[in-house]
Amino acid sequence: MGAGPAGLVLSHLLYLQGIDSVVVENRSRQYVEDRVRAGVLEQGTVDLLTEMGVGERMKSEGLIHYGIELRFEGRGHRIDFRDLTGGKGIMIYAQHEVLKDLNNARLATGGQVYFEVENVSVHDFNDAYPKIRYRKDGSDHELTCDFIAGCDGFHGICRPSIPEGVLTEYERVYPFGWLGILAEAPPSSDELVYTYHDRGFALLSMRTPHISRLYLQCDPNENIDEWSNDRIWQELHTRLASEGWRLTEGPIVQKGVTGMRSFVVEPMQYGNLFLAGDSAHIVPPTGAKGLNLAVADVQVLARALERFYTTGKRCQLNKYSHNCLRRVWKVQRFSGWMTSMLHRFPGEDPFDQRRQLAELDYVTNSRAAAQTLAENYVGLPLT
Ligand code: FAD
Ligand code: DHB
Repeated sequence: MGAGPAGLVLSHLLYLQGIDSVVVENRSRQYVEDRVRAGVLEQGTVDLLTEMGVGERMKSEGLIHYGIELRFEGRGHRIDFRDLTGGKGIMIYAQHEVLKDLNNARLATGGQVYFEVENVSVHDFNDAYPKIRYRKDGSDHELTCDFIAGCDGFHGICRPSIPEGVLTEYERVYPFGWLGILAEAPPSSDELVYTYHDRGFALLSMRTPHISRLYLQCDPNENIDEWSNDRIWQELHTRLASEGWRLTEGPIVQKGVTGMRSFVVEPMQYGNLFLAGDSAHIVPPTGAKGLNLAVADVQVLARALERFYTTGKRCQLNKYSHNCLRRVWKVQRFSGWMTSMLHRFPGEDPFDQRRQLAELDYVTNSRAAAQTLAENYVGLPLT
């Protein structure tokens, strides 16, 4: 269920293992392929997409980075991933480009991806033959299957279809959001810049050598209409300011506000329904983990399904949630830590600020601390 990164990667992995699947998506293909979201791929995600044969365009158009900058008190400090992780890096390549590549690969290999379905519901997932019902082009359909993968995101229907009392939810909502823009401006830095500033967090990222992606910490209910392009640029100039460095402006082609939360459900499975990606967990965006975590879940699920279909054994399927959650909570820890280190919090006092600055000072001057950041940023091992 769902043609996001989790659903499409899972479907193609299953195809490569000789297992049939159908992807059911309520939006149009165009909508899914145009939606601007994440842009940072961990080394493990890059390796997986390459092994799956969908990495060609990523390899030619993506940007490999071997470090990030942490900027505070007007000065930049580089975290050198290559040195600190034994040669690992990250890839800058937009989520919607990954989805285009996956859709093309699915359709070129006879994959069944049904877009624009309506009234989707899941049934009998506690029995041997779960069912998916949906409406498409004016008629009702029912699919009978062995397993349902709930890859339908945070607002999907799979998680809420699990009977009450089965799942435990863990949640933290942050008192701020991110105002994000996409600008036709060459990135002003070769690498991502995470900035701690009195006025709040700012992030300089990019999509291509000609497109910058920039974020500002803002109120979670910020009205985007109150942010003229001039106001956005002025705030970015102020927060990102550093001696001898200039931010390049350009036409803003997209802007929006995203709220921030940490969320996990346990367990991530019930009967023959398995939750993967945002349907099971959300991380705050600081550290760029959401997409990568979704891909890691479905890798675990695809392996468990392969085991089931080759041996008839459910042992890996039974351990799916346990195996994923170990990694999910470590990524929650990292994303929460990056968020708390880099953002201003309502009600904080000068003590809190000094502690944050000390943390940044420590991370950028202790090899052990920098290594901790680096190994999490490039991606923890799958299990
Ligand atoms: P999704 O990508 O949400 O895919 C779920 C799919 O299911 C969607 O296509 C949806 O249309 C479909 N669906 C939903 N309901 C139904 C239904 N009832 N029936 C059928 N289909 C359904 N992460 C980062 O790391 N960095 C970022 O900068 C970043 N920015 C983000 C900005 C926004 C606005 C959002 C919402 C998320 C952002 N994320 C970011 C998080 C990242 O994009 C997600 O973690 C990632 O998309 C998760 O993939 P997924 O496949 O689990 O879920
Ligand atoms: C991007 C998003 C993030 O959340 C992040 O930590 C780094 C980069 C991005 O959209 O480019």
